[in-house]
Amino acid sequence: MIRHATDSDADALATLHRRCFAPRGERVWPAAEWAALFTNRATHCLVVDEDRLVGALLMQIGGDCADIITIMTDPAKQQSGIGRALLDAGMAHLPPLGVSRLMLEVAADNLAARALYTRAGFRPIGIRPHYYKRSGTDRVDALLLACDL
Ligand SMILES: CC(C)(COP(=O)(O)OP(=O)(O)OC[C@H]1O[C@@H](n2cnc3c(N)ncnc32)[C@H](O)[C@@H]1OP(=O)(O)O)[C@@H](O)C(=O)NCCC(=O)NCCS
Repeated sequence: MIRHATDSDADALATLHRRCFAPRGERVWPAAEWAALFTNRATHCLVVDEDRLVGALLMQIGGDCADIITIMTDPAKQQSGIGRALLDAGMAHLPPLGVSRLMLEVAADNLAARALYTRAGFRPIGIRPHYYKRSGTDRVDALLLACDL
């Protein structure tokens, strides 16, 4: 079931975020950070609830444009259509709110996320060179993608 998240999901979202991002050495967002996001009326978060949270899409709206802040599927459930279902639900949710364009940044080496976005109709609109830190001194470009809704 896809539903809107509430602040009571903060602990579960922090757990899911850790499972998705900690193995890649990325900073995880504690529950307090998730709870703080829900105090911002521009925040829209959809979750996939299968008795526990197995997916989440976090977006922020600014005027007629929205940004995907993050999207994540539990590693045990990846490549089973959850990310695409979340993206489809998010893209259907936004136009009635006056949003006509959805944008995001993705690391050039995140092939799973790039595949998800490309298949959903996102197209490249720019690059931020050497934007993401990797191990040592390595850096990876951020690709800016957009989709007209
Ligand atoms: C990116 C992520 C959300 C994709 O979620 P998912 O539930 O596995 O995606 P889906 O199963 O819905 O797949 C959507 C499409 O992307 C493709 N895809 C997903 N993972 C892929 C992979 N590892 N390699 C190649 N293609 C992949 C699927 O084949 C599918 O294409 P299709 O619609 O033509 O069948 C998931 O890999 C994830 O949580 N990654 C860690 C967190 C992250 O990097 N988030 C993105 C931050 S910008």
